[in-house]
Amino acid sequence: MATFEPARLVSDMMKQSERPVIGPSPAGTIGLGAGDPDFRTPAHVRQAMIDAVNEGYSNYPPMTGDPDLLQALADYLERRYEVDWNTSDITITNGGSGALYASLAGYLNPGDAVLLPEPTYSQYADITRLVGAEVIWVKQTADWHLDPDAIRAAAVANPRAKILVINNPNNPTGVVYGRAELEATAAVAEECNLLVLADEVYDHLILDDIEFTSTMDIEGFQGRLIYCNSFSKTFAMTGWRLGWVAASPGLTPPIARVSRTSGGWVNWALQRAGIAAMNGPMEETEAMRVEYAARRDLIEELLDGAEGVSWTRPQGAFYAFFKYDAPVTSRRMSALLRERGVALRSGSEYGPSGEGYIRLAFAADRAAITEGMLRMRSTMAEAREGKIS
Ligand SMILES: Cc1ncc(COP(=O)(O)O)c(C=O)c1O
Repeated sequence: MATFEPARLVSDMMKQSERPVIGPSPAGTIGLGAGDPDFRTPAHVRQAMIDAVNEGYSNYPPMTGDPDLLQALADYLERRYEVDWNTSDITITNGGSGALYASLAGYLNPGDAVLLPEPTYSQYADITRLVGAEVIWVKQTADWHLDPDAIRAAAVANPRAKILVINNPNNPTGVVYGRAELEATAAVAEECNLLVLADEVYDHLILDDIEFTSTMDIEGFQGRLIYCNSFSKTFAMTGWRLGWVAASPGLTPPIARVSRTSGGWVNWALQRAGIAAMNGPMEETEAMRVEYAARRDLIEELLDGAEGVSWTRPQGAFYAFFKYDAPVTSRRMSALLRERGVALRSGSEYGPSGEGYIRLAFAADRAAITEGMLRMRSTMAEAREGKIS
């Protein structure tokens, strides 16, 4: 039988990626691996989708996005960050993933480099490699905050560095970056002339009473900002696939063109539902946020007394990033955990500093979290005592 080789960039990316391709878990597995909320999409958003389908939004949508949705997004940016964003500087995409792909592919040439403060969401590295560019991992501070000096050093050492990616709140650490570190990072971006891709898909999920500072709200990022967001996490709409990019003036055309050429137009009825989400009440998102915070506190209790397991208490998103003390790689640890019926993610998926860590997504109910934590603790204890490896 004839064999056909995949594109070299694709096979290279697949070799390096630790993003899971293992398929569905066996029955009885507790799923705490995926960042997929267990909440339903708010009722008014669901109704808006149904209405749009019935009203006949079945044609190709306007090429640059539904004008009402673009306006709703610009209005939102003005309400929240007091920025005057032109609708022509916004691109509607197929999910946050589509936003990331269009943004990176729109600006990277083969051989360019992307600076990734790590650990960080694994998709940035995959996309970077897919377009033939190079990933430069940049260490964060010991408590997982941005290290502007390390970013500067990486940019200086890599003259092809073109884009810096900032994910705030961070997946997988749950850390929320503060204003001072963001301002210092903006100064480095200016100094080294970097584009900044800011991924703020968890910006409504701040679990403590702390200020969230957006890149939108920092002067130094303006002119070089590619701001990506998604409806997936804020409105529990992961399966709907709606995202967007707001880029500094002049930066949008390549992003919009890649989006259109790769994923194509975005489902028009879905865009209409997006308007209802942006302009509608936020009580359900707030209720989700409160529940995520309660789950985070539950995890803290369940962690009590676990020898050799530690974490930095997450303040945003819905991830716990555990450091375990056992002579087992995090890839192996996630396989052992899976054998014991709990799906968690290997820390090394998120960059070299994630080795020795496991990520738990508390986007599942409290019973699942409680049982999953028990299984995780006992597996890590056995590995620590050398009973399994
Ligand atoms: C940081 C981050 N950005 C983007 C995405 C992708 O979002 P979407 O599901 O809208 O493609 C995710 C999904 O987990 C994420 O964690």
